[in-house]
Parts: sequence; C-alpha cells; structure tokens
Amino acid sequence: MHYFVTGGAGFIGSNMADRLLQCGHRVTVYDNFVTGHREYLEDAMKSGSFTLAEGALEEEDKLAQAMKGADFVFHFAANADVRMGLSHPRKDLEQNTINTYRVLEAMRANGIKRIGFSSTGSIYGEAEVIPTPEDAPIPVQTSLYGASKMACEGLIEAYAEGFGFQGYIFRFVSILGERYPHGHVIDFYRKLKADPHKMEVLGDGHQKKSYLYVGDCLDAILTVTEKCREKVNIFNLGTDEYCEVNDSIGWITERLGYDPELAYTGGDRGWVGDNPFIYLDTQKIRSLGWKPKLTIREAVERTVDYIKENEWLLEAAK
Ligand SMILES: NC(=O)c1ccc[n+]([C@@H]2O[C@H](COP(=O)([O-])OP(=O)(O)OC[C@H]3O[C@@H](n4cnc5c(N)ncnc54)[C@H](O)[C@@H]3O)[C@@H](O)[C@H]2O)c1
Repeated sequence: MHYFVTGGAGFIGSNMADRLLQCGHRVTVYDNFVTGHREYLEDAMKSGSFTLAEGALEEEDKLAQAMKGADFVFHFAANADVRMGLSHPRKDLEQNTINTYRVLEAMRANGIKRIGFSSTGSIYGEAEVIPTPEDAPIPVQTSLYGASKMACEGLIEAYAEGFGFQGYIFRFVSILGERYPHGHVIDFYRKLKADPHKMEVLGDGHQKKSYLYVGDCLDAILTVTEKCREKVNIFNLGTDEYCEVNDSIGWITERLGYDPELAYTGGDRGWVGDNPFIYLDTQKIRSLGWKPKLTIREAVERTVDYIKENEWLLEAAK
C-alpha cells in the first residue's frame, strides 16, 4: 500500500510513518514543519520507500500533485493545541476544518477514497455520559478546537455519503510517548527545569484525564483500518482508566527526582474549554481484539524518559 500522511513530521504522524514503513508500505509525508520536526523523520529518510513532500495544505495544487498514486490518506496535520483557541478564533477553522476540506478535495481529484482522520475526545465537550461512548448524544461544544474537529468529522461523513469515500474517524484521548511535543508532561517538565522547588498547576489538580501511549494508538488505528469496512467507522481510542492531574504530577516529579511545592491556580479546570473529566468508553475498539499495552502511569514515565533524552524539544516545541 502507498500511504499519504499529512502532518507526518509531527508527533503522531511521524510515529505512524515509521510504523507503516516497518510494515513494508510506501509512505509519503506531507508537512510544512510548522510544529513538525525534521529530527522525527531521520529514520524514515533512510528508507527507499519514503518520500518527503514539503508543503502546506493550503497549497492545493501541490497537495493534489503530491498525493498522486496514494491508496490511503492518514490526515494528522492540524492545529493540535486545544488551549489557545480563544486567542485566535480563525486558526482552528482554517487549520483544521478548511484544510480537511482541502485534503478531501485533493483525494477526490486523485480518485483516492480511504481516509483515516485524527479527531479528538474534545468533541464530547463536557459529556453527560462517562465513560463516553461513540454514540453519546450530540454534545455541546466547549472549545473551538473540538468544534473544528466535529466539523471535520461531518465533512468526512458527507464525502462518504456523497462521493463513496470510506472514513475512519478516531477520537483520541491525549496521546503520550516518544516525540511527544505538547501537553501537560512537557509543560511540567519545563517548569520543573526552571524551578525544581516550586511549580504552578492550572486548576485544582483534581481534573480527571485519560491518556494513551502512542504505540497503542497506532496499533488501534491499524486494527480498525484493517478490519472495518463500513462507510464511516468511528472509534474512541483511550485506556480503560483515568488519573487526576495530581497523580500525573506525582509520577513526573518522582521520575525526575524532584519534590516541588505545588501552587494551584484554583478552580476545577485549567482554562476555558478544559474538560475536568475526560474518560472515553473503549468497548468498541476492544471488541476488535485490541487492548493497550501500557498503563497511563507507564506512558507518562516513558514520555518523561523520552524528554530527558531529547531536551532540545523543550525549546523547539515551545
Ligand atoms: N497529541 C494528542 O494528544 C492528540 C489528541 C487528540 C487528537 N490529536 C490530533 O492528532 C493529530 C496529530 O497531533 P500531534 O500531537 O501529532 O500534533 P503535531 O503538532 O505534533 O503534528 C501536526 C503536524 O502537522 C503539520 N501541519 C500543521 N499544519 C499544517 C499545514 N497547514 N500544512 C502542512 N502541515 C501542517 C505540523 O508541522 C506537524 O508536523 C492532530 O490532528 C491532532 O489534532 C492529537
């Protein structure tokens, strides 16, 4: 198979590119390196089955040209930052929704019909049903990021209905592991490096979150794309557990050998749109025989170890 991976120089996309190459596939990565890193592609570049197409999704002709000959598109490129949505309200719309439309149109121009899409558990807003199943009532959106991803899902569904596409929609919890560039682990790591004695924590530390290790995330995605053939296949991806932010802080500080005094900013959430309880029902993906290999704690510790060995990321991923 020839896979086209948008955002393939990013955290999840580059891990996927490596995995697909290891499985013997051809891979083309399309990325403009806005948050991606060339370092993430060092292994892939050594493969004769790998092509790097440097470009932005906004460059529609270039995108369509680069996609020629691909069988399947994994669309990971996006503004993956949930927190800053209100500071630039157009960004999620343009980077996520409109660019997804561009990817779908480039696929249509090339006669490519299968797409794997990285959606998010954030589309559930503050879910009423926890753990939240895929068929939870259409939720009220609480972030521009979640809203933009929900719109992407709608576009994929409409292309499946209208143009015979096959859509694979994955609603991830937060992903951890090698090449992790953004999120609470690196934020806390950065703060602890600056001051190991005292650390500010957004909210009250009791926010409950679920996380998944990137290797387990890829296993789940590839299980679904191999086994499922519905027009639209929607899957939650997460672990069967959640932790409090305070638990995660404990694991991170222990791993780094620090014992900081914690200063909470207060309130039950870190920022507007921060969901104080994210926990997805993963029975559907588990029914395909998949289960995660790492617990949340193991995934957090592995992420800390990776950052420790790659401290260049602390500056590069700001
Ligand atoms: N990391 C998580 O915890 C998480 C959770 C849920 C969903 N997701 C989704 O998974 C996907 C991948 O996330 P990630 O954490 O790997 O993010 P990332 O920022 O590491 O990767 C995104 C990649 O897309 C590229 N990109 C962005 N805009 C582009 C554009 N206009 N043209 C070309 N390339 C562009 C970036 O350079 C980067 O390499 C995103 O769609 C994100 O919303 C991530």
